[in-house]
Amino acid sequence: MSTGPVDPTTTTAWTRLAGLAAAPRPDLRSTLTPAWVEQQTLVAADLHVDLSKNLFDDEVEAALLALAEEVDLHGRRRAMFAGEHINVTEDRAVLHTALRLPAGASLVVDGHDVVPEVHDVLARAYDFAERVRSGDWTGATGRRIATVVNIGIGGSDLGPVMAYEALEPYRQEGLSCRFISNIDPTDAGQELKGLDPETTLFIVSSKTFGTLETLTNARLCKAWLLERLPAGTDPSAAVAQHFVAVSTALDKVADFGIDPDNAFGFWDWVGGRYSMDSAIGLSLMVAVGPERFTEMLAGFHAMDEHFRTAPDTANVPLKMGLLNVWYTNFLGAHTHAVLPYAQFLHRFPAYLQQLTMESNGKGVRWDGEAVGYDTGEVFWGEPGTNGQHAFYQLIHQGTRLVPADFIAFARPSYALTDGDTDVHELFLANFLAQTKALAFGRTADEVRAEGVAEDLVSARTFPGNRPTTSIMAPELTPGVLGQLVALYEHITFVEGAVWGIDSFDQWGVELGKQLAQELRPAVAGDAEVAAEQDPSTQSLIRYYQENRGR
Ligand code: F6P
Repeated sequence: MSTGPVDPTTTTAWTRLAGLAAAPRPDLRSTLTPAWVEQQTLVAADLHVDLSKNLFDDEVEAALLALAEEVDLHGRRRAMFAGEHINVTEDRAVLHTALRLPAGASLVVDGHDVVPEVHDVLARAYDFAERVRSGDWTGATGRRIATVVNIGIGGSDLGPVMAYEALEPYRQEGLSCRFISNIDPTDAGQELKGLDPETTLFIVSSKTFGTLETLTNARLCKAWLLERLPAGTDPSAAVAQHFVAVSTALDKVADFGIDPDNAFGFWDWVGGRYSMDSAIGLSLMVAVGPERFTEMLAGFHAMDEHFRTAPDTANVPLKMGLLNVWYTNFLGAHTHAVLPYAQFLHRFPAYLQQLTMESNGKGVRWDGEAVGYDTGEVFWGEPGTNGQHAFYQLIHQGTRLVPADFIAFARPSYALTDGDTDVHELFLANFLAQTKALAFGRTADEVRAEGVAEDLVSARTFPGNRPTTSIMAPELTPGVLGQLVALYEHITFVEGAVWGIDSFDQWGVELGKQLAQELRPAVAGDAEVAAEQDPSTQSLIRYYQENRGR
């Protein structure tokens, strides 16, 4: 296990980077030579990654790689892949990479080989998925399942729903998934609308099986089911046929009334936001089938191997993570946009928000010392071209630096024309245009040369020199999706390792959960508990009660 975290600001490389950031920096207009583009165009599995439009040069790259050395990033990476307890505050290994090791591999953690267990659960989950897909698994009245409803939140929702949307072309016809996450009853109300209870299967996905939202929604769905199945249906048979669970807490699953035979486990060394490739992906397995799920796992593994073995200068997650540190700590960026030019990736930015922000939104290092530097950018984004007509204005001409990752595919998921034009080509032209406009902008002289009136020249000038990374792949396949997710998992790891934080705990979500429990009676009308609250909370409770007619 690597020893305590290094304060990165005490390293020679940090001082060097601060000096480089303060010096006048060459503009992308001059740095973007063919040689630089060739040097900074990297390949990671099926991903073609062009880093050349970022604000760096050989000197900055060397200093960033030196920073990685000084904080012993490589040692921490070795420790993660080896299953050491790098999640210090929870005293756990961090082994999502073991979820995608091929059968036959071996990884001994805390005294035993985890790979056979991973494949045992996968085999059971695949078998279950096939039974649902083939119609062998039926509801309590003998009818084939038509809708799978995943009940989960955070990592037990965002990954499955993101991948379900991303892999739409691979779904089995006649079988659809819905996802209930929010404790706002509107969510369950809407998702259950129109469903036939006899053909609906619920998957309760919760690592802890203690999450208020998920357990409440699971009870709500159970009540919905039992009220609507034909009279005389045996309730326990109904639950057995219509409810399965995925959790690390199989005892709590049994307490809920779900047959342990219909429960799929995973392990405490899988963080919630790193779990979509465990049995938490059961809804996706049902939708796209075991074969496609296996291809996705192979994609994850290919990126793991790239991250683990590629030399530093060719290592995509390492360099992207270090560039994010450069932007955050030296060039003053606070946010990072992820802009997929693929409609099917419309939930990818939301997925990345949990992955990156729950991981790296920390203010203390893993030894408990407060950090004296920024951590954890705000990740956000929307698919292009919708974003172009919404927030790109700020990225192009605003006062803030917003590094952006563009993701695009050579082959379309739908090859359509408008009669003459291949619409995917029009779409890709937009992707290329945006990264070009951000890099080179348009100078005042160029604007004048277009005949623009002098009083409008400054408003129509684009400063350019705005950094982007372009990630391309042949097509959005299950394997490529796995590679993309693993890429961002490792970028997140790299940033956390430099900052010396524990990217694998999430204590910051606990206080709100605790206070919600304490406030419940006040919301329900307990005047004594309400009187204990701060004046603002009291006033909001009063407003609620008046307007709810309580
Ligand atoms: O509250 C945060 C969190 O713990 C996430 O880390 C997790 O993905 C989510 O809640 C759901 O947790 P669980 O899978 O245990 O229900």
